[in-house]
Amino acid sequence: MQVHIPLKQVIDNSYDIFIEQLSQIPLETKVAIVTNPKVAGLHLSYLLERVKSKELYIITVPDGEEYKNQQSIDTILESLFNHKFNRKSILIAFGGGVIGDMVGYAASIYQRGIDFIQIPTTLLSQVDASVGGKTGMNNNYGKNLIGAFHQPKAVYIDPYFLSTLPGREFGAGVAEIVKMAVTFNEEFFTFLESANLHDTKVLQEAIKRSVQTKADVVAQDEKERGLRAALNYGHTFAHVIENETQYKTYLHGEAVAIGMVIANKLAVKLGLMQESEANRVLKVLQKYNLPTTYEIADVENFYQAFFLDKKSSDATITFILPDGIGGVKMLDDIQKEDVIAVLEEYSA
Ligand code: NAD
Ligand code: GLY
Repeated sequence: MQVHIPLKQVIDNSYDIFIEQLSQIPLETKVAIVTNPKVAGLHLSYLLERVKSKELYIITVPDGEEYKNQQSIDTILESLFNHKFNRKSILIAFGGGVIGDMVGYAASIYQRGIDFIQIPTTLLSQVDASVGGKTGMNNNYGKNLIGAFHQPKAVYIDPYFLSTLPGREFGAGVAEIVKMAVTFNEEFFTFLESANLHDTKVLQEAIKRSVQTKADVVAQDEKERGLRAALNYGHTFAHVIENETQYKTYLHGEAVAIGMVIANKLAVKLGLMQESEANRVLKVLQKYNLPTTYEIADVENFYQAFFLDKKSSDATITFILPDGIGGVKMLDDIQKEDVIAVLEEYSA
C-alpha cells in the first residue's frame, strides 16, 4: 500500500529591500528587536524612534562570531516563549551578519517559522548577509553548518549606521562588494575602479548595485543549487587562511580579499582571466587597505585543507574562478599541479 502526498506548491517569498534613510516601520503585532550591546549602545535609540508596534521587546545576545551558537539561539527563543510570542509576531535583526544570521535562524524554527526583518548595520551585512535568506549558526564542526533558508519579510538598509563602523570592518564589506562585481557585473566593477566609497553618496550607489546583483542571483537560485555558489568566489582559499590563522588575524572579508587575489592568479594561469584584469582587481582591493597576500607555511597542507572544508564533497574541490571581469566559472576538474604552482608563489 502506498499513500502519496502531493506537495508541489509555488511559494512567493518575494520581498523588498529599502536602501535609504530609515523612516517609520509600522508593525501591527508583537515585535522583538534582537541585537548586541555594541549596536544597541550606538544605534538602538535611533531605531526605537522609528519602529511602531503593538508590543516591543529588546533581546540582546553577546557580540562576536564566537557567540553565533546554540546558546545565543536559546537566549532568543526563551525570551520569545517568556513573552508569549505567537506565529504572527515579528523579529527584527538589528546588527551585523552575525545577528542577522542568528535571528533569521531563530525565526525559521520558532513555532516552525515566523517572520523577521533585517536591519543590517555593517557594510558586509548591508551588501551581502542581509540579502538572500541564508540563516544559521556555528557549532564545533564548523561555521554556518546549522541553518535554514528563511527569507526576511523586508530589509531596511540605512547607510547612516555605517558612520560608526571601524575602518577594518568597512574594508571587509568592500571586499564583498568587489566579489559581487567581479563575478557578475563588469560595469559595476568599472564603477568601483573610479569610485571613492568613503563618499556617502557613492557608497549608497555601490550598496544599491551590490544588493541588486545579489538579488538577481538569489532570484535565479534561491537554495544554492548552482549559480548562487559563485558568490563563494575567493572563499575556498579564505576558509583555509581563516582556519590556519585561527580566525584571529583576518576579518572574514579580509581573508576573502586574499582569497580572490589567489583565485585570480589561478584564473590567469588557466587562461580564464588576463593578468591586466587580475591587476585591476588587486588595485581596487588595495585602495581600501585590504590585505592581498599571505605566506603559506606548507603548500601541500594548504592544498589538503581544501578537502577538510565541511561543505566540500569528499573527493572534489570546486574552484570558483572569474571568467574575465563580470563572469564566473565553477570548476571541479582543475589539476592539482596547477593549484600547487599558484600556491607555491605564496610559499614562505
Ligand atoms: P559582525 O556581525 O560580527 O559585525 C562586526 C562587528 O561590528 C561586531 O563587533 C558588531 O557588533 C559591530 N558593529 C555592527 N554594526 C556596527 C556599527 N554600525 N558600528 C560599529 N560597530 C558595528 O560581522 P559582519 O561582518 O557584519 O558579518 C559576518 C557574519 O555574516 C559571519 O557570521 C558570516 O558567516 C555572515 N555572513 C552571512 C551571509 C549570508 O548570506 N547569510 C553572507 C556573508 C556573511
Ligand atoms: N554570501 C553568499 C550567499 O549568500 O550565497
